[in-house]
Amino acid sequence: MASQVSGAEHILITGGAGYIGSIAAHLLISQGVDVTVIDDCSTGHSEDVPSKAKFVQGTLQDRNAIREALKDCTSVIHFAGKSLVNESVMHPDLYWQINVEGSRNLIEEMNNARIARLIFSSSASTYGNPGTVPIAEDAPTRPTNPYGETKLAIEAMLSLESSVTGLACISLRYFNVSGALETAAGWIGERHDPETHLIPNTLRSTNARPMKIFGSHWITPDGTCVRDYVHVIDLVDAHIAALNALTPSQHEIFNLGSGRGYSVREVLQTASEVLGYGIAQVDAPMREGDPAILVADISKARSALNWEPTRDLRKMIEDSAQLIGLI
Ligand code: UFG
Repeated sequence: MASQVSGAEHILITGGAGYIGSIAAHLLISQGVDVTVIDDCSTGHSEDVPSKAKFVQGTLQDRNAIREALKDCTSVIHFAGKSLVNESVMHPDLYWQINVEGSRNLIEEMNNARIARLIFSSSASTYGNPGTVPIAEDAPTRPTNPYGETKLAIEAMLSLESSVTGLACISLRYFNVSGALETAAGWIGERHDPETHLIPNTLRSTNARPMKIFGSHWITPDGTCVRDYVHVIDLVDAHIAALNALTPSQHEIFNLGSGRGYSVREVLQTASEVLGYGIAQVDAPMREGDPAILVADISKARSALNWEPTRDLRKMIEDSAQLIGLI
Protein backbone atom coordinates (compact mmCIF):
# COMPACT_ATOMS: atom_id res chain seq x y z
CA MET A 1 0.00 0.00 0.00
CA ALA A 2 1.40 3.37 -0.98
CA SER A 3 -0.93 5.52 1.14
CA GLN A 4 -0.91 5.57 4.94
CA VAL A 5 -3.65 6.91 7.18
CA SER A 6 -2.28 10.06 8.77
CA GLY A 7 -3.16 10.82 12.38
CA ALA A 8 -5.23 8.80 14.84
CA GLU A 9 -8.39 7.60 13.15
CA HIS A 10 -11.25 5.32 14.16
CA ILE A 11 -13.06 4.52 10.93
CA LEU A 12 -16.57 3.19 10.50
CA ILE A 13 -16.77 0.96 7.43
CA THR A 14 -20.34 0.44 6.28
CA GLY A 15 -20.61 -2.73 4.23
CA GLY A 16 -17.43 -4.04 5.82
CA ALA A 17 -18.46 -7.68 5.37
CA GLY A 18 -18.74 -7.20 1.60
CA TYR A 19 -16.11 -7.64 -1.09
CA ILE A 20 -14.45 -4.22 -1.10
CA GLY A 21 -15.42 -3.19 2.44
CA SER A 22 -13.89 -6.27 4.09
CA ILE A 23 -10.63 -5.82 2.19
CA ALA A 24 -10.57 -2.14 3.21
CA ALA A 25 -11.13 -3.18 6.84
CA HIS A 26 -8.22 -5.65 6.71
CA LEU A 27 -5.85 -3.16 5.09
CA LEU A 28 -6.74 -0.34 7.51
CA ILE A 29 -6.28 -2.60 10.52
CA SER A 30 -2.89 -3.66 9.14
CA GLN A 31 -1.96 0.05 9.34
CA GLY A 32 -2.93 0.17 13.02
CA VAL A 33 -6.21 2.02 12.46
CA ASP A 34 -9.20 1.35 14.74
CA VAL A 35 -12.08 0.00 12.65
CA THR A 36 -15.78 -0.56 13.29
CA VAL A 37 -17.83 -2.46 10.70
CA ILE A 38 -21.58 -2.22 10.21
CA ASP A 39 -23.10 -4.77 7.84
CA ASP A 40 -26.40 -6.65 7.75
CA CYS A 41 -24.72 -9.60 5.95
CA SER A 42 -27.52 -9.66 3.36
CA THR A 43 -24.84 -10.08 0.70
CA GLY A 44 -21.65 -9.87 2.79
CA HIS A 45 -19.94 -12.58 4.82
CA SER A 46 -19.37 -12.09 8.56
CA GLU A 47 -16.29 -14.34 8.42
CA ASP A 48 -14.59 -11.77 6.13
CA VAL A 49 -14.80 -9.06 8.84
CA PRO A 50 -11.39 -8.87 10.55
CA SER A 51 -11.45 -10.22 14.10
CA LYS A 52 -9.83 -6.98 15.36
CA ALA A 53 -12.73 -4.85 14.08
CA LYS A 54 -15.72 -3.99 16.25
CA PHE A 55 -18.63 -5.56 14.34
CA VAL A 56 -22.19 -4.26 14.51
CA GLN A 57 -24.43 -6.65 12.58
CA GLY A 58 -27.19 -4.31 11.51
CA THR A 59 -28.64 -2.31 8.66
CA LEU A 60 -28.53 1.36 7.71
CA GLN A 61 -32.34 1.26 7.95
CA ASP A 62 -31.91 0.96 11.73
CA ARG A 63 -30.92 4.26 13.39
CA ASN A 64 -30.00 2.54 16.66
CA ALA A 65 -27.55 0.25 14.89
CA ILE A 66 -25.97 3.23 13.12
CA ARG A 67 -25.65 5.14 16.41
CA GLU A 68 -23.99 2.15 18.03
CA ALA A 69 -21.60 1.77 15.08
CA LEU A 70 -20.63 5.46 15.03
CA LYS A 71 -19.49 5.46 18.68
CA ASP A 72 -15.91 6.83 18.98
CA CYS A 73 -15.51 7.09 15.18
CA THR A 74 -13.72 9.99 13.49
CA SER A 75 -14.48 9.17 9.82
CA VAL A 76 -16.76 6.94 7.76
CA ILE A 77 -16.13 4.98 4.57
CA HIS A 78 -19.55 4.16 3.15
CA PHE A 79 -19.54 1.00 1.01
CA ALA A 80 -22.90 -0.48 2.07
CA GLY A 81 -25.54 -0.74 -0.61
CA LYS A 82 -27.01 -2.83 -3.36
CA SER A 83 -24.96 -2.92 -6.54
CA LEU A 84 -26.47 -5.13 -9.22
CA VAL A 85 -27.60 -3.30 -12.34
CA ASN A 86 -30.10 -5.97 -13.41
CA GLU A 87 -31.62 -6.25 -9.94
CA SER A 88 -32.02 -2.47 -9.82
CA VAL A 89 -34.01 -2.53 -13.07
CA MET A 90 -36.33 -5.21 -11.63
CA HIS A 91 -36.64 -3.65 -8.15
CA PRO A 92 -35.98 0.09 -8.33
CA ASP A 93 -37.83 0.79 -5.07
CA LEU A 94 -35.49 -1.53 -3.21
CA TYR A 95 -32.50 0.45 -4.50
CA TRP A 96 -34.02 3.80 -3.48
CA GLN A 97 -34.86 2.43 -0.05
CA ILE A 98 -31.59 0.63 0.71
CA ASN A 99 -29.10 2.90 -1.05
CA VAL A 100 -30.63 6.37 -0.76
CA GLU A 101 -32.59 6.10 2.50
CA GLY A 102 -29.75 4.13 4.09
CA SER A 103 -27.29 6.88 3.14
CA ARG A 104 -29.67 9.57 4.40
CA ASN A 105 -29.93 7.79 7.77
CA LEU A 106 -26.16 7.48 7.96
CA ILE A 107 -25.56 11.16 7.16
CA GLU A 108 -28.17 12.34 9.67
CA GLU A 109 -26.68 10.17 12.40
CA MET A 110 -23.17 11.38 11.49
CA ASN A 111 -24.50 14.93 11.95
CA ASN A 112 -25.96 14.05 15.33
CA ALA A 113 -22.65 12.46 16.37
CA ARG A 114 -20.68 15.44 14.96
CA ILE A 115 -18.67 13.21 12.61
CA ALA A 116 -17.91 15.23 9.50
CA ARG A 117 -15.57 13.11 7.36
CA LEU A 118 -16.98 10.75 4.74
CA ILE A 119 -15.71 8.72 1.77
CA PHE A 120 -18.53 7.40 -0.43
CA SER A 121 -18.43 4.45 -2.86
CA SER A 122 -19.97 5.75 -6.04
CA SER A 123 -19.90 4.18 -9.47
CA ALA A 124 -19.07 4.74 -13.13
CA SER A 125 -22.68 3.77 -13.75
CA THR A 126 -23.48 7.43 -12.92
CA TYR A 127 -22.20 8.31 -16.42
CA GLY A 128 -24.47 6.00 -18.42
CA ASN A 129 -23.44 5.85 -22.09
CA PRO A 130 -20.46 8.19 -22.28
CA GLY A 131 -20.18 10.72 -25.11
CA THR A 132 -16.39 10.63 -25.01
CA VAL A 133 -13.88 8.12 -23.69
CA PRO A 134 -11.83 8.22 -21.47
CA ILE A 135 -14.43 9.65 -19.12
CA ALA A 136 -13.49 12.60 -16.92
CA GLU A 137 -15.39 13.55 -13.76
CA ASP A 138 -17.02 16.55 -15.46
CA ALA A 139 -18.59 14.37 -18.18
CA PRO A 140 -22.42 14.47 -18.26
CA THR A 141 -24.10 12.09 -15.79
CA ARG A 142 -26.95 10.23 -17.49
CA PRO A 143 -27.38 6.90 -15.70
CA THR A 144 -29.20 4.22 -17.66
CA ASN A 145 -30.44 2.22 -14.66
CA PRO A 146 -31.79 2.78 -11.12
CA TYR A 147 -28.50 1.63 -9.59
CA GLY A 148 -26.63 4.52 -11.22
CA GLU A 149 -29.51 6.90 -10.44
CA THR A 150 -29.32 6.09 -6.73
CA LYS A 151 -25.55 6.64 -6.67
CA LEU A 152 -26.05 10.02 -8.36
CA ALA A 153 -28.85 10.96 -5.94
CA ILE A 154 -26.56 10.20 -2.99
CA GLU A 155 -23.79 12.30 -4.51
CA ALA A 156 -26.27 15.21 -4.83
CA MET A 157 -27.28 14.74 -1.20
CA LEU A 158 -23.62 14.87 -0.18
CA SER A 159 -22.97 18.07 -2.14
CA LEU A 160 -25.85 19.77 -0.35
CA GLU A 161 -24.77 18.37 2.99
CA SER A 162 -21.19 19.57 2.62
CA SER A 163 -22.28 23.11 1.75
CA VAL A 164 -24.86 23.28 4.57
CA THR A 165 -23.15 21.44 7.43
CA GLY A 166 -19.47 21.61 6.51
CA LEU A 167 -19.20 17.85 5.85
CA ALA A 168 -15.84 16.92 4.31
CA CYS A 169 -16.68 14.41 1.64
CA ILE A 170 -15.20 12.55 -1.33
CA SER A 171 -17.18 10.34 -3.71
CA LEU A 172 -15.17 7.73 -5.59
CA ARG A 173 -16.66 6.54 -8.86
CA TYR A 174 -15.46 2.96 -9.30
CA PHE A 175 -15.02 1.40 -12.71
CA ASN A 176 -14.63 -2.42 -12.77
CA VAL A 177 -13.11 -3.70 -9.55
CA SER A 178 -11.43 -7.10 -9.41
CA GLY A 179 -8.72 -9.07 -7.59
CA ALA A 180 -8.43 -10.34 -4.03
CA LEU A 181 -6.34 -9.96 -0.86
CA GLU A 182 -4.25 -12.59 0.91
CA THR A 183 -4.58 -12.29 4.70
CA ALA A 184 -2.98 -14.40 7.45
CA ALA A 185 -6.22 -16.42 7.51
CA GLY A 186 -6.35 -16.95 3.73
CA TRP A 187 -7.66 -15.16 0.64
CA ILE A 188 -10.66 -12.86 0.73
CA GLY A 189 -12.40 -11.47 -2.31
CA GLU A 190 -15.46 -11.44 -4.48
CA ARG A 191 -18.07 -14.05 -3.43
CA HIS A 192 -21.37 -12.95 -4.94
CA ASP A 193 -24.38 -15.21 -5.30
CA PRO A 194 -25.41 -15.12 -8.07
CA GLU A 195 -22.10 -14.01 -9.60
CA THR A 196 -22.56 -11.70 -12.58
CA HIS A 197 -19.07 -10.26 -13.04
CA LEU A 198 -16.80 -11.09 -15.93
CA ILE A 199 -13.58 -12.20 -14.21
CA PRO A 200 -15.03 -14.57 -11.57
CA ASN A 201 -17.41 -16.04 -14.15
CA THR A 202 -14.54 -16.56 -16.58
CA LEU A 203 -12.54 -18.40 -13.93
CA ARG A 204 -15.47 -20.65 -13.07
CA SER A 205 -16.40 -21.50 -16.67
CA THR A 206 -16.04 -25.09 -17.87
CA ASN A 207 -16.59 -26.93 -21.15
CA ALA A 208 -20.01 -27.92 -19.83
CA ARG A 209 -20.73 -24.30 -18.75
CA PRO A 210 -18.84 -22.14 -21.25
CA MET A 211 -18.34 -18.44 -20.69
CA LYS A 212 -21.08 -16.41 -22.37
CA ILE A 213 -19.74 -13.38 -24.22
CA PHE A 214 -22.51 -10.80 -24.08
CA GLY A 215 -22.41 -9.35 -27.58
CA SER A 216 -19.71 -9.71 -30.22
CA HIS A 217 -20.77 -6.97 -32.64
CA TRP A 218 -20.17 -3.88 -30.53
CA ILE A 219 -18.39 -0.98 -32.21
CA THR A 220 -15.08 -1.84 -30.56
CA PRO A 221 -11.81 -3.22 -32.00
CA ASP A 222 -12.74 -6.90 -31.53
CA GLY A 223 -16.52 -6.50 -31.29
CA THR A 224 -16.75 -7.15 -27.52
CA CYS A 225 -17.31 -4.58 -24.74
CA VAL A 226 -14.36 -2.68 -23.33
CA ARG A 227 -14.05 -2.03 -19.59
CA ASP A 228 -11.50 -0.49 -17.24
CA TYR A 229 -10.40 -2.94 -14.51
CA VAL A 230 -8.78 -1.83 -11.25
CA HIS A 231 -7.33 -4.07 -8.54
CA VAL A 232 -9.23 -3.92 -5.25
CA ILE A 233 -6.00 -3.22 -3.30
CA ASP A 234 -5.21 -0.23 -5.52
CA LEU A 235 -8.82 0.88 -5.08
CA VAL A 236 -8.57 0.74 -1.28
CA ASP A 237 -5.26 2.60 -1.47
CA ALA A 238 -7.15 5.45 -3.18
CA HIS A 239 -9.63 5.52 -0.29
CA ILE A 240 -6.77 6.07 2.16
CA ALA A 241 -5.35 8.84 -0.04
CA ALA A 242 -8.88 10.32 -0.15
CA LEU A 243 -9.17 10.24 3.66
CA ASN A 244 -6.00 12.32 3.84
CA ALA A 245 -7.40 14.79 1.27
CA LEU A 246 -10.78 15.48 2.92
CA THR A 247 -11.50 19.20 3.24
CA PRO A 248 -14.34 20.70 5.33
CA SER A 249 -17.35 21.96 3.32
CA GLN A 250 -16.09 20.31 0.13
CA HIS A 251 -17.49 17.39 -1.82
CA GLU A 252 -14.99 16.20 -4.42
CA ILE A 253 -15.55 13.44 -6.97
CA PHE A 254 -12.83 11.15 -8.38
CA ASN A 255 -12.85 8.35 -10.93
CA LEU A 256 -11.06 5.17 -9.90
CA GLY A 257 -9.98 2.83 -12.66
CA SER A 258 -6.68 2.03 -14.31
CA GLY A 259 -7.18 4.42 -17.21
CA ARG A 260 -6.82 1.48 -19.64
CA GLY A 261 -9.52 -0.50 -21.39
CA TYR A 262 -9.64 -4.26 -22.04
CA SER A 263 -12.16 -6.03 -24.24
CA VAL A 264 -14.04 -9.09 -22.97
CA ARG A 265 -11.94 -11.25 -25.34
CA GLU A 266 -8.70 -9.74 -23.98
CA VAL A 267 -9.81 -10.61 -20.44
CA LEU A 268 -10.55 -14.20 -21.49
CA GLN A 269 -7.19 -14.42 -23.26
CA THR A 270 -5.31 -13.19 -20.16
CA ALA A 271 -7.27 -15.65 -17.99
CA SER A 272 -6.31 -18.54 -20.27
CA GLU A 273 -2.63 -17.49 -20.02
CA VAL A 274 -2.88 -17.41 -16.20
CA LEU A 275 -4.68 -20.77 -15.99
CA GLY A 276 -2.69 -22.49 -18.71
CA TYR A 277 -5.73 -23.72 -20.65
CA GLY A 278 -8.24 -22.21 -23.07
CA ILE A 279 -11.44 -20.66 -21.69
CA ALA A 280 -14.52 -22.38 -23.11
CA GLN A 281 -16.69 -19.61 -24.55
CA VAL A 282 -19.81 -18.97 -26.60
CA ASP A 283 -21.17 -15.83 -28.20
CA ALA A 284 -24.40 -14.75 -26.50
CA PRO A 285 -26.82 -11.85 -27.06
CA MET A 286 -25.92 -8.38 -25.76
CA ARG A 287 -26.86 -7.76 -22.13
CA GLU A 288 -29.44 -5.02 -21.70
CA GLY A 289 -28.01 -1.73 -20.47
CA ASP A 290 -24.35 -2.51 -21.24
CA PRO A 291 -22.45 0.45 -22.72
CA ALA A 292 -19.88 -0.50 -25.41
CA ILE A 293 -16.87 1.18 -23.79
CA LEU A 294 -16.23 2.47 -20.25
CA VAL A 295 -12.72 3.71 -19.57
CA ALA A 296 -11.79 6.19 -16.84
CA ASP A 297 -9.74 9.32 -17.14
CA ILE A 298 -7.88 9.03 -13.82
CA SER A 299 -5.74 12.15 -14.14
CA LYS A 300 -7.64 13.94 -11.35
CA ALA A 301 -6.98 11.13 -8.83
CA ARG A 302 -3.36 10.97 -10.01
CA SER A 303 -2.72 14.65 -9.42
CA ALA A 304 -4.96 15.50 -6.44
CA LEU A 305 -4.60 12.22 -4.51
CA ASN A 306 -1.10 11.38 -5.72
CA TRP A 307 -2.54 7.93 -6.50
CA GLU A 308 -1.33 5.46 -9.10
CA PRO A 309 -2.74 1.95 -9.62
CA THR A 310 0.14 -0.52 -9.77
CA ARG A 311 -1.49 -3.95 -10.26
CA ASP A 312 -2.39 -4.93 -13.82
CA LEU A 313 -5.14 -7.12 -15.27
CA ARG A 314 -2.98 -10.23 -15.06
CA LYS A 315 -2.41 -9.67 -11.33
CA MET A 316 -6.18 -9.19 -10.81
CA ILE A 317 -6.89 -12.48 -12.56
CA GLU A 318 -4.09 -14.31 -10.73
CA ASP A 319 -5.36 -13.14 -7.33
CA SER A 320 -8.99 -13.95 -8.23
CA ALA A 321 -7.82 -17.43 -9.31
CA GLN A 322 -5.93 -17.86 -6.01
CA LEU A 323 -9.09 -16.94 -4.10
CA ILE A 324 -10.97 -19.89 -5.57
CA GLY A 325 -7.99 -22.23 -5.44
CA LEU A 326 -7.41 -22.54 -9.19
CA ILE A 327 -3.71 -21.76 -9.05
N1 UFG B 1 -19.70 -10.00 -19.49
C1 UFG B 1 -19.82 -11.10 -20.33
N2 UFG B 1 -20.18 -12.29 -19.77
C2 UFG B 1 -20.42 -12.44 -18.42
C3 UFG B 1 -20.28 -11.31 -17.58
C4 UFG B 1 -19.93 -10.11 -18.15
O1 UFG B 1 -19.61 -11.00 -21.53
O2 UFG B 1 -20.76 -13.56 -17.98
C5 UFG B 1 -19.30 -8.71 -20.07
C6 UFG B 1 -20.35 -7.63 -19.85
O3 UFG B 1 -21.28 -7.61 -20.89
C7 UFG B 1 -19.48 -6.38 -19.82
C8 UFG B 1 -18.16 -6.86 -19.21
O4 UFG B 1 -18.16 -8.27 -19.37
O5 UFG B 1 -19.22 -5.94 -21.11
C9 UFG B 1 -18.03 -6.53 -17.75
O6 UFG B 1 -19.22 -6.95 -17.07
P1 UFG B 1 -19.33 -7.02 -15.49
O7 UFG B 1 -20.68 -7.58 -15.18
O8 UFG B 1 -18.14 -7.69 -14.92
O9 UFG B 1 -19.25 -5.49 -15.05
P2 UFG B 1 -20.10 -4.22 -15.55
O10 UFG B 1 -19.19 -3.44 -16.46
O11 UFG B 1 -21.41 -4.58 -16.06
O12 UFG B 1 -20.37 -3.44 -14.19
C10 UFG B 1 -19.36 -3.13 -13.24
C11 UFG B 1 -19.99 -3.09 -11.86
C12 UFG B 1 -21.00 -1.97 -11.79
C13 UFG B 1 -20.35 -0.67 -12.19
C14 UFG B 1 -19.68 -0.80 -13.54
C15 UFG B 1 -18.95 0.47 -13.84
O13 UFG B 1 -20.63 -4.33 -11.59
O14 UFG B 1 -21.45 -1.88 -10.47
O15 UFG B 1 -18.77 -1.89 -13.54
O16 UFG B 1 -18.00 0.30 -14.83
F1 UFG B 1 -21.27 0.30 -12.25
